[in-house]
Amino acid sequence: MSDQKPVFGHVPVMLRETLDYLVPPAPDCLMVDGTLGLAGHSSAFLDRYASLRLIGVDADPEVQAIAKARLEPYGGRVRFVGSYFDQFFAEYLAGVEAGTEERPALVLFDFGLSMFHFKESGRGFSLQGDEALDMRLDPAAPRTAADLVNELDERELFKVLSEYGEEPFAYKISRAIVRERQAARIDSTGRLADIIRGTVPPKFRYGRIHPATRSFQALRIAVNDEPGRIERGLAAAIDCLAPDGIVACISFHSLEDRIVKLAFREKAVKRERAYFKDARESPIPEGEAERALVVLTKRPVEPADDEVAANPASRSAKLRVARLAKGARS
Ligand SMILES: C[S@@+](CC[C@H](N)C(=O)[O-])C[C@H]1O[C@@H](n2cnc3c(N)ncnc32)[C@H](O)[C@@H]1O
Repeated sequence: MSDQKPVFGHVPVMLRETLDYLVPPAPDCLMVDGTLGLAGHSSAFLDRYASLRLIGVDADPEVQAIAKARLEPYGGRVRFVGSYFDQFFAEYLAGVEAGTEERPALVLFDFGLSMFHFKESGRGFSLQGDEALDMRLDPAAPRTAADLVNELDERELFKVLSEYGEEPFAYKISRAIVRERQAARIDSTGRLADIIRGTVPPKFRYGRIHPATRSFQALRIAVNDEPGRIERGLAAAIDCLAPDGIVACISFHSLEDRIVKLAFREKAVKRERAYFKDARESPIPEGEAERALVVLTKRPVEPADDEVAANPASRSAKLRVARLAKGARS
């Protein structure tokens, strides 16, 4: 096992469970880590399986550079791709279908941000300090959080805050933002946090959780189109899987977990339909059995008590795992 010393305080979440579920069907198979981050999970897999090869994908070039340095000892076993995972898997699938790329046997997603983003990036993800209101994973992406805060109309702002942040005061906060930005553009985390604090009812202003926490989460999700990317990326990743391939997803909020649950269910239903048709000896429509998935986690797996005690940031994690049905795509 790798030493797993935290890098920027980041500890890989549910590592034990991920290693237990993602067992390579062959020693020298290919794994794609769709959210390489600081390579905590990836380095553990590379240590455990000496012939495993890995593609590490991350949209953030700064994070990718840290992971590259960390994974240098594994040499040619690792290939790095700087891309959003939905773009990566869409292009990779085209390569698989053209016969130029190898199907991965293992795919891992560990959604969200790493500790680097909150503690070191200076891109406005955190409520500590006062930073530019950016929140882009890829600094080349077109719209920052400040652009959304200053340009969305009140109804759109309300939708972002309530859908992605489940913010109970979304209505009041979006009104206040639209009012305050008329005086001057809202460009910093400090100013936005102050506006939100001044808007929520007094008893919520100085509690244990900063009253802007939900709004910050919502803006980050919107800036990076997190739900859309998970939906598209996971569907394409499943279509890339090798025979007996396994896909695992670690989610941190209900929005992500729901997308994973529905994506697995949709592919698993196709499996049942394929078997049903098989039983009646009618032909299975072309491609139907190929997408067959078996869900290995009927309920999402949650971190054990000792992990939550050691790393409280893991407490909301949920792991779901599925593999291609036997015989599919063989
Ligand atoms: C929770 S961290 C992964 C941590 C990693 N498993 C580890 O142990 O170090 C998630 C990473 O995924 C990246 N990320 C988030 N959404 C992405 C997307 N749509 N495409 C590519 N990378 C993404 C973030 O930049 C971040 O580095």
